Amino acid sequence: MKNTSSYDNWAKVYDLIYSKKNYKKESEIIKSIINKNKRSNGKSLLDVGCGTGGHIKYLHKAFDCEGIDLNKELLSLAKKKIKGIIFHQRNMINFKLNKRFDIIICLFSAIGHVKTIKNLKKTLKTFDRHLNFGGIVIIEPWFTKKAYKKGRLDLTTYKDEDIVISRTNVSKIKGDIAILDFHFLIAEKNKDVKYCFSRQELGMFELKTFLKIMNGVGLKSKFIKNGLNRGRGLYIGVKK
Ligand SMILES: C[S@@+](CC[C@H](N)C(=O)[O-])C[C@H]1O[C@@H](n2cnc3c(N)ncnc32)[C@H](O)[C@@H]1O
Repeated sequence: MKNTSSYDNWAKVYDLIYSKKNYKKESEIIKSIINKNKRSNGKSLLDVGCGTGGHIKYLHKAFDCEGIDLNKELLSLAKKKIKGIIFHQRNMINFKLNKRFDIIICLFSAIGHVKTIKNLKKTLKTFDRHLNFGGIVIIEPWFTKKAYKKGRLDLTTYKDEDIVISRTNVSKIKGDIAILDFHFLIAEKNKDVKYCFSRQELGMFELKTFLKIMNGVGLKSKFIKNGLNRGRGLYIGVKK
C-alpha cells in the first residue's frame, strides 16, 4: 500500500512532540460520552487515525479495541506501546474490515486529513458501514475556516537529556484547506542536529455541512462545543 502520510518524517518523535497532551483525561471524557449516548450492547471499539495509540492505551481495559492508521511507523510505535491489540494499516476513506463495531472514534483532528467534502462523505459512509445499530461514532474535527487563525505562529518544543526538538510553523490557508508547514530541528546526543520538513493539509469543514453529511449517511448526529481540545468540539453520531 502506498503510504502518503505526512507524518513520515517525524513519526519517531510524535509522542515527544505531544508529550503534554493529556490522553488519560481525554479518554475519560470519551468513556463518559460513550456511556451516555451508545445504544448498542457490545463494547468493540475502533480508533480511526489512531496514531501511536495514545487513546487506546487508556481505553483498552474498558473496550475491545482495534486501531487503524495510514502511517506504518506510527502503527509500529502503537504496537510496541500496547500489546495484544490489532492495528491495521488502512486508509480511513475506504477501509473494509468485514466486521462492525459498537464504537468508532476519530480524534485529534485526524479527519481533517481527508481534505475534501467528497472524501468526507466517503469516510463517513465507511464509518457507518462499520457500525452496529445503536453504535456510536465520535469525531474530533479540525478547525472550521472561521475558527482557524491564518498567520498564527506556532512553536512546540521538547527537551530531555538525550534529545531536543523544536517544531515551528506559520498557519497558512489555500481555499478551504489549512496548510501547516512544519519545520523541525532535532538534536540527539552525540549526533549532528537534523532538519526536517513536513506539510500537513487539513480540510476545514463547516459545522452545518458536517452534520448534514453525518445525518445523511444514517447517523443521528449532534455537535458539542466543549470537547477534548479548545476550539474543536466533537461530533457525536448514533447509527439509526
Ligand atoms: C493528529 S494525528 C492523531 C493521531 C491520534 N488519534 C492521536 O490522538 O494522537 C492524525 C493521524 O491520522 C492519520 N491519518 C492521516 N490520514 C489518514 C488516512 N487517510 N487514513 C488513516 N489515517 C490517517 C495520521 O497518520 C495520524 O496518525
